[in-house]
Amino acid sequence: MTKYVNEMFKIDTKNLSYVFHVHPTGVLIHDYFGEKIDVVSPEAISLKNECQRGTSTIYDEEKNKEFSLDQALLEFSFPHKGDYKESQILFRNETYGYVFDFKYESYEIRKPEELKTLPTPSDASEELVIHLRDEKANIKVHLHYLVFEESNVIARNIVIENASKEELHVLRAYSMNLDFMNQYYETMTLSGGWISEGYLTSKEIVPGIFQINSNTGNSSNKHNPFFIIKKKSTDYDLGECFGFNLIYSGNHSEIVQCSNYDKLRVISGINPFCMDYLLKEGEVFETPFAVLSYSKMGLNGLSHNFHDFVNNHVIQKEWRRYLRPIVINNWEATYFKFNEAKLIEIAKAGKKYGAELFVLDDGWFSSRNDDSHGLGDYIVNKKKLPHGLDGLAKKINKIGLKFGLWFEPECVNKESDLFKAHPDWAIVNADHKPSLGRHQYVLDLSRKEVQDYIIDNVSNVLNSANIEYVKWDMNRNMSDIPSTNPGEFYHRYILGLYRIFKELTSKFRHVLFEGCASGGNRFDLGILSYFPQIWTSDNTDAFERVKIQSAIALGYPLSCISNHISGSPSHQMLRNTSIYTRFNVASFGVLGYELLFNEMSTLERKQISSLINIYKEYREVFQYGEFSQSTHILKHNSIEWRVTSKQKDKQVVMVFNRLQLPNPKDTYLYTGSLNSDKKYTVSEVSQTYNVKMFGSLINMVLPVRINSNGQLINLISHLKGIDGGHQEYEVSGSVLNSGALVLDLEWSGSGLNDKVRVMGDFGSRMYLINEVKDEARKE
Ligand code: DGJ
Repeated sequence: MTKYVNEMFKIDTKNLSYVFHVHPTGVLIHDYFGEKIDVVSPEAISLKNECQRGTSTIYDEEKNKEFSLDQALLEFSFPHKGDYKESQILFRNETYGYVFDFKYESYEIRKPEELKTLPTPSDASEELVIHLRDEKANIKVHLHYLVFEESNVIARNIVIENASKEELHVLRAYSMNLDFMNQYYETMTLSGGWISEGYLTSKEIVPGIFQINSNTGNSSNKHNPFFIIKKKSTDYDLGECFGFNLIYSGNHSEIVQCSNYDKLRVISGINPFCMDYLLKEGEVFETPFAVLSYSKMGLNGLSHNFHDFVNNHVIQKEWRRYLRPIVINNWEATYFKFNEAKLIEIAKAGKKYGAELFVLDDGWFSSRNDDSHGLGDYIVNKKKLPHGLDGLAKKINKIGLKFGLWFEPECVNKESDLFKAHPDWAIVNADHKPSLGRHQYVLDLSRKEVQDYIIDNVSNVLNSANIEYVKWDMNRNMSDIPSTNPGEFYHRYILGLYRIFKELTSKFRHVLFEGCASGGNRFDLGILSYFPQIWTSDNTDAFERVKIQSAIALGYPLSCISNHISGSPSHQMLRNTSIYTRFNVASFGVLGYELLFNEMSTLERKQISSLINIYKEYREVFQYGEFSQSTHILKHNSIEWRVTSKQKDKQVVMVFNRLQLPNPKDTYLYTGSLNSDKKYTVSEVSQTYNVKMFGSLINMVLPVRINSNGQLINLISHLKGIDGGHQEYEVSGSVLNSGALVLDLEWSGSGLNDKVRVMGDFGSRMYLINEVKDEARKE
């Protein structure tokens, strides 16, 4: 709900308020962003800026002898008028050079409207638009605020309008500017690279500039556009935190600047790197929506806001709350080496172990037998697939699985027919020798004919068989940007990309698209505006995935986090993890397989058969339940994840051990957020231990000594395990909420019975919690 009273704008959502007002000079002053408050005028909550400080530049002495932009908290910032911090915009034209002066003109509160060029989150309750203008230059800036009351999210952007007769160069145009006072805050960001996406890092905010960005042409795995500012003491369950994200898939930049007066400026938007966007008379430039939220209920509270927002306002309507299928993907099972028979074998095994959709990954077309050939030529390789895609899809459907297909439409191998036919479609810079990445070039999506070609080409393939899922890959960072109109190139690429996405997703409404870019190289809200799920990382090792998924899930809901159970040892880390741990970690989100079932032991296959039924039974909770993490993640060896159904009648908790510690502590199960006055059953998912886990200790229980590395034990380990016991309780919600339930003792090096929980390095347990409904309640 948005109100305008006494020159003050106040936006309220369910739990937060956002306040700013118009200063007598015409500048917009930011007053407040945080927990919901009642306020009648800005005087009480506005910074007192009535005494000239030091070397301040006075904005307009005629109107106010003391007022300096540098000391104020600004709602919109611009340079060269006395504000010396990083500014939200930078323009240039012939008459005024770099100097523009924006003052408030008017406002409107209206029914939300969609942006013309960029994705807009849907179903906002209302939209506030503030109109600013530089009177002399006749340049307008419109500040937009979309309000999402239930999600506690505000989406902000600016639209620049050149109302003058002169050309305007837009050199920087951040979507939002938020000024507030630093109160011992720190930043929390998701940084990394290929197979290490989303590593969490925190940094104390001190005077100076902290910046994350990407200049790779995509949102990148180096720095995700999602970031947090929090009190140092804030943990997962309690404390103040602000969260920010950007609905954009290209170069982005987020700056947190702290002045010597401890004033904080946060700006987020398109990275001005190489930006020089020319606006002719009457033209308009839209910036992507930046997304803001706040919680005083710690990181979990903040992530619940973002999850709600993404699930209900970003994901396309037809895929909202859609239960995502279990995928079997052939990539790690075969890489490029497969034929139809092999794929059918994998699909049949997948079906047996619960998969619902088979995905044919890279390597199905033309000369694509390794990553140096054929990319761009989507003509089926008849040697591998003699019955074509249609024939294969029919066979897969007959097995009882849907059929999905991999593409990488934005790129082209140097060795391909497409490149030979259209060398000029690749991004190249004049006669410089262009650099390659994975032996490929990126196609110039800023050009309409290239966009049209991709739309037609992908459409033809999708029409050629019963394809119900697409994995859309993109395996390159950009280089060698063109010499023509280079200042607009990066943004125009993204506009082209979004046009392609929009056309294809509206043409093929039944197709579930999964975004992917060398794993999670483009995990952002722009992609999610078109594709409901994203492949999170090429690292399928469960131990690494715990870190990656923990971080990504801070800003993105589990319904869009795609995870696969792969073979052990992991191809990326050469690390062995149990099938339980691989399942437990991959289950929190959209589950799939990427392995050869016949390389699993008989015992593992038995284990996965029962585990997959748990996923199916609790799928809605795993994908759409309220996801929370335990504060332990920040400090301790053990990690706890939990998902809770909306009605609070079902919950799944996972406890994960990083490493086995000596003298393990007794463990309490912390569930939070259940109904205190209801009763629940807590049932541990039983595990059978691999006999080899105990090495020669096995001889302690055997009547005759055997070689713990011998053939016999190898054979036994394939067929049978040691029963790991099982805990089951019936307790009140209050016991669970207060973390009073104590789990069985962990293995402590000196004895094993069915009351001892063996976790080991990277071990994990899953607990299924169900409300005892009245009629089923025990006496
Ligand atoms: C990168 C993706 O992240 C992988 O899952 C796989 O699809 C390969 N590309 C195929 O080239």
